[in-house]
Amino acid sequence: MLIKKPSDIKPSEITPESVYRNRREFMVDGSKLLFGAMAGTGLPALASAQNGDRLKARAPASMQRPAPAPWWVDKFSNIKPAPDAEPFFTGESLTPYQDVTRYNNFYEFGMDKGDPSANSGAFKPDPWSVQITGEVAKPGTYHLEDILKPVDLEERIYRLRCVEAWSMVIPWIGFPLADLIKRFEPTANARYVEFETLVDRNSMPGVTSRFAIVDWPYREGLRMDEAMNPLTMMVVGLYGNYLPSQNGAPMRLIVPWKYGFKSIKSIVKINFRQTQPNTTWNDLQANEYGFFANVNPGVHHPRWRQDMERRLPQTLFSRQHIETRLFNGYGEHVAHLYDGMDLARYY
Ligand code: MTE
Repeated sequence: MLIKKPSDIKPSEITPESVYRNRREFMVDGSKLLFGAMAGTGLPALASAQNGDRLKARAPASMQRPAPAPWWVDKFSNIKPAPDAEPFFTGESLTPYQDVTRYNNFYEFGMDKGDPSANSGAFKPDPWSVQITGEVAKPGTYHLEDILKPVDLEERIYRLRCVEAWSMVIPWIGFPLADLIKRFEPTANARYVEFETLVDRNSMPGVTSRFAIVDWPYREGLRMDEAMNPLTMMVVGLYGNYLPSQNGAPMRLIVPWKYGFKSIKSIVKINFRQTQPNTTWNDLQANEYGFFANVNPGVHHPRWRQDMERRLPQTLFSRQHIETRLFNGYGEHVAHLYDGMDLARYY
């Protein structure tokens, strides 16, 4: 993000118009393909046919990932589909699965958009545990299985707006971050939440690259009221299935009204604290990346236009330039968090 020019998508990444199906068509085709593929590969079916019918969006057969642990499969057999109303659903066309999973920012696997999908083959998201520290009554190291056991997974269809001026619409699977936070019983001193990504030198080639610009681990943070907002989501899947490594397996954050860099991937640590934490991009270039990072067409960025965005996928015939909205269109649900704040100063 820091050193890349606002490049257009490479020709190889352009998805033909024919692949860009509307949401309803995708739902039907995707589920048929998925079950067909599962039957042929011996992979455990991740969702029953009944659940597949209910879910709004399903992954296509092209996904090639190892079968996850049995408990994980069980969890995915009972996902509550997205409601038909904002803010947890948008009627905009979904970004196709292949774009969501091949056009990524995950610098631990390299800095080009295709690097995370190409270089994450050795990454192992299972077993996984998350360290809970700081201002909570129940600190400790929690296995992902225990984190997810009491959780009801739900689908939410959100817009994702990157500071690089591209955007997508993605059907995520997860649960409200607030529900998880409450389980650790934060103290009255917990005013901020800090997140860290795994650093694994063996499976993350970007971490050892001599071109790396990040001081690992990748770190992000939210104010407590932002973390507790019902829109803030812990994500463990997309398109009805578990998360591919390149999208932040096994568990990542999604904060739909903020620029994508706040949505930290592959989380191994959550720390509750009294003071505002340092965050990766803010540390690297504070004049370009603020702590709040609310999507805001009125705040100038030195390298990318923030009043317009490119909705992916673009094709040769359809550039899909659309206007960026304040808070990425979620203002009705989050603007009150910033009452009285100068959004140009606290960008
Ligand atoms: N998390 C980690 N650990 N490392 C990263 O490089 N990139 C961020 C965010 N989370 C990043 C990360 C950026 S800049 C964006 S836009 C989103 O992830 C992209 O998410 P996606 O690849 O699933 O679209």
